[in-house]
Amino acid sequence: MRANAYKRSSSINAAGRALTHPTADAGFGVYLHWPFCASKCPYCDFNSHVRHAQVDEPRFIAAFEREIAHNAALTGPREVTSIFFGGGTPSLMRPATVGAILDAVAKHWSVAPGAEISLEANPTSVEAERFRGYRDAGVNRVSLGVQALNDRDLRRLGRMHTAAEALAAVRIAADTFERYSYDLIYARPHQTPAEWAAELEEAIGYAVEHLSLYQLTIEPGTWFERLFNAGKLTVPDSETGRALYDVTQEVCARRGLPAYEISNHARPGAECRHNLVYWRYGEYAGIGPGAHGRLVTDKGRVATATIRGPEEWLSAVERDGHGVESRETLSEEAQGDEFLLMGLRLVEGIDPARFAALAGRPLDAGRLDALIADGLITRDAAGRLRVSEAGFPVLDALVADLAA
Ligand SMILES: C[S@@+](CC[C@H](N)C(=O)[O-])C[C@H]1O[C@@H](n2cnc3c(N)ncnc32)[C@H](O)[C@@H]1O
Ligand code: SF4
Repeated sequence: MRANAYKRSSSINAAGRALTHPTADAGFGVYLHWPFCASKCPYCDFNSHVRHAQVDEPRFIAAFEREIAHNAALTGPREVTSIFFGGGTPSLMRPATVGAILDAVAKHWSVAPGAEISLEANPTSVEAERFRGYRDAGVNRVSLGVQALNDRDLRRLGRMHTAAEALAAVRIAADTFERYSYDLIYARPHQTPAEWAAELEEAIGYAVEHLSLYQLTIEPGTWFERLFNAGKLTVPDSETGRALYDVTQEVCARRGLPAYEISNHARPGAECRHNLVYWRYGEYAGIGPGAHGRLVTDKGRVATATIRGPEEWLSAVERDGHGVESRETLSEEAQGDEFLLMGLRLVEGIDPARFAALAGRPLDAGRLDALIADGLITRDAAGRLRVSEAGFPVLDALVADLAA
């Protein structure tokens, strides 16, 4: 998993449909982080770096393979159910590099037939030209960072592509892959709910099965944060933010793409299986600079994090066989907290029995009853707990309360 994949929280319409087969057996995912971008977007705090010299891809392939081998030695035999190339910008990799890394995954673990293999792509024309190569290498799903469908906002977001170029990339993705998704950022400077509703209607029109819709977050250390603190960047106030959120839920649900997670919408059955591994608190290996993993070993559930700097990671792997800089066996309490933090983001909610098995204690009945009485959480006949429409805007506080 990338370092901040679960950071962004907005709200969700918990009245949306639950997934068809909620399961505790979430599968085994492999996350591979490619840490390079052609330029740094002013809002982004992902582990992404701009390099003017050409990246030595064969050297990275060898390092990825060594770190995959290291993880496989820790996990023992596993059947991989999903693989995700995230970034950074994985679509800057040559297709042969993607193929070589996939071969390394298959050499050290077995890959389930029909495993979901996703790759994040920036929608420039140069990158779209490589889509066929990725497909031939084994990728079966792309996730495109479209961000906005008008050039004014793309410029404001510092993106290197136009809306026309992004839509051309979406068309190529649709022609090349059976499954694709794209990301949009909303609550942009000066954006109104009416403009956003029209843009979202247009976005859904591109026959998309999955959309990630992120509310713009001003992240510490970014250029946007500096502009914001200097009073040079205005983002929608909380009332407008809520209206933009309501529009998101209404348009997506009406057009057949209900939310299944805080920021993710899909036609039923088209959910991203890899991200579900995280949210259902499954097992995953995190490979590459700045990647996080959760491995189930004979010592228990282990949290791993690798060195963020690409060159530092490369040297560590070449020296030690891995770039892991922290490895912590999680206590029962920490596992219970993580399970709540991840699972309550999902519209399908959580099974409290799984919490008890991980945390070594049941949820506090008094706190739970109070949250149910306040209408922030619902409990169905089978005992499953879901955050309600009223609860999602205060999800962080709610999780903290329940975990305490
Ligand atoms: C690793 S990036 C995407 C991949 C690709 N590099 C791109 O930019 O097209 C994942 C997504 O996170 C979202 N994102 C990044 N920073 C954000 C922020 N500050 N607020 C909201 N969404 C953000 C963007 O939608 C982006 O597409
Ligand atoms: S948003 Fe994507 S392209 Fe832009 S800096 Fe972040 S990872 Fe790179």
